[in-house]
Amino acid sequence: MCGIVAYIGHRVAKPILLEGLKRLEYRGYDSAGIAVLEGNKLNLCKAVGRVSMLEEKLENKEGFDGSLGLCHTRWATHGGVTDFNAHPHRDDRHGIALVHNGIIENYAALKTYLQEKGHRFASETDTEVLAMLISELYEGDLEAAVQAALREVTGAYAIAVICEKEPGTLVVARKGSPLLVGIGNDEHVVASDAAAIVAHTTQAFMLDDYNVVKISKDGFRTSDIHNTPLTPKITQLEIDLQEIELGGYSHFMLKEIYEQPKALRACVSGRMDLREGRVVLGGLTNFAKELTKARRVILTAQGTALHAAMIGRYMLEDLVKIPSTTEYASEFRYRNPVIEENTVVVAVSQSGETADTLAALHEAKERGALALGVINVVGSTIARETDAGVYLRVGPEIGVASTKAFTGQVAALALVTFFMARKRLMSADQCREFMQEMEAIPGKIERILELDSKIKSITEKYVERENWLFLGRGYNYPTALEGALKLKEISYIHAEGMPAAEMKHGPIALINEGMPAVFIANRGRQYEKVMSNIQEVRSRGGHVIAVATEGDNEIRKYVQDVMYIPDVCEPLSPLLAVVPLQLMAYHAAVLRGHDVDKPRNLAKSVTVE
Ligand code: M6R
Repeated sequence: MCGIVAYIGHRVAKPILLEGLKRLEYRGYDSAGIAVLEGNKLNLCKAVGRVSMLEEKLENKEGFDGSLGLCHTRWATHGGVTDFNAHPHRDDRHGIALVHNGIIENYAALKTYLQEKGHRFASETDTEVLAMLISELYEGDLEAAVQAALREVTGAYAIAVICEKEPGTLVVARKGSPLLVGIGNDEHVVASDAAAIVAHTTQAFMLDDYNVVKISKDGFRTSDIHNTPLTPKITQLEIDLQEIELGGYSHFMLKEIYEQPKALRACVSGRMDLREGRVVLGGLTNFAKELTKARRVILTAQGTALHAAMIGRYMLEDLVKIPSTTEYASEFRYRNPVIEENTVVVAVSQSGETADTLAALHEAKERGALALGVINVVGSTIARETDAGVYLRVGPEIGVASTKAFTGQVAALALVTFFMARKRLMSADQCREFMQEMEAIPGKIERILELDSKIKSITEKYVERENWLFLGRGYNYPTALEGALKLKEISYIHAEGMPAAEMKHGPIALINEGMPAVFIANRGRQYEKVMSNIQEVRSRGGHVIAVATEGDNEIRKYVQDVMYIPDVCEPLSPLLAVVPLQLMAYHAAVLRGHDVDKPRNLAKSVTVE
């Protein structure tokens, strides 16, 4: 979604801002803009489309050589995709420029008030209202005007503001939308995502809700919106620049698919005590008692994270024998859910910033649940607001189509399952067996990756087809959902995922000659049943592509194409079965000529409800 980068220091701001914006491109956006103060003159430039369009527009433009500036990538919410609606928004009375992530909920009432005061609006956005409100309240002190304005707004915001009348000052603030201040030598880089900061400094602090920071070249002052001074907690950003660069791959998605063995090794490293037959999760240790007496688990998430949560639910019921459900966070939040005593709610999220998941978490906490997080981004909002949790440790995920975060989520949920199961009914020997299976997973994924060219040639056969089915049962029903989601997100092919048995209750009507149906048909408790479902598709002319277990030669008689995965215990089988589906989706998108890392309409982290 939207991205913010701001700079104040001794260097020319423009290249730093544009380079930062490029690092945020993966988040998804539809327009971009920049404002730079050169001397006492504020200059703005905006463009619909990619950051490269903004760069083109800036070529040969004068007035952008100052050392204080801010920029933005916009993902439209209020108002269409136009130059006028793109950020920064400016006020001419005092020469204020502002960029904003989030939504100002009471913008309509504020706009009427400001119009009565004589302000004229150029855009349809909620953001311009905030810029005008700051201007209205400006009495020679930008920090004070920002604080006063933020006392009047409801909603979510991360903002950066500059003013012609204060050419040595950058003011930033946050409520509900992430913002970090990177501290360099006589310079500061502010961004909504650490990826735009790490090239300059790894020393940074994350703003808390209602924090306002007044920044100059060589210092900063943090307060709240009532001007109470605060001391921020400065930390080291643990992102290696290499992790957010392509490193020879053509796309981040492909890089991240290939990174899965390494990512999963990192995810489980130091967390499995094979000698003792137990899982060690530092984040959960203090809540071991609550987890032992828990009577229900509700896993909540959106998108790919929800699919991982569904697999987590199967594991918890299967191995911990605890009643568990999964919920779309967006539905859970607003349907007045019943939360009994001793309920644990698990929020699963790569970014830790998904607004729907955050809202569900708030609801669960208000209703007395113990809130756990299974999160990738360290220090993200959800991670900070849960009572405890487990980080994925899979490294930054840049590809909009989530891949290594999915397998990381499944692996982390498996660890949580083993942790809880050992407290209840699982013996050390059983736990050890599962952990040995888990240890073998990265090596097995490496073997699947070796089959990439075969998977590509299978994809080539079907890439022209506009409708696909993805079918699986048990643990691999969510894998089927994930396979379908991956394909539609980046190749724009219509795909439906469903339980293989459900197909005959209606969707079977869709099957026509040559329709691709991807079945997850690995060896397991439901293998025979899946084989029957395969026959049902074949006899209606569908073409079956099976994900099958190595050594299952028999299956070749019944399907058109096979993608083999190594043998694996059922609960962990989605970790392998999903990999060929990720590769298929990737190849389909490339073959169709789409920009895999910038799929249309999508944002990496969805910070609006
Ligand atoms: O950051 P989160 O895991 O909370 O994101 C949830 C979904 O928005 C995300 O998984 C989305 O579905 C991805 N585009 C899937 O590839």
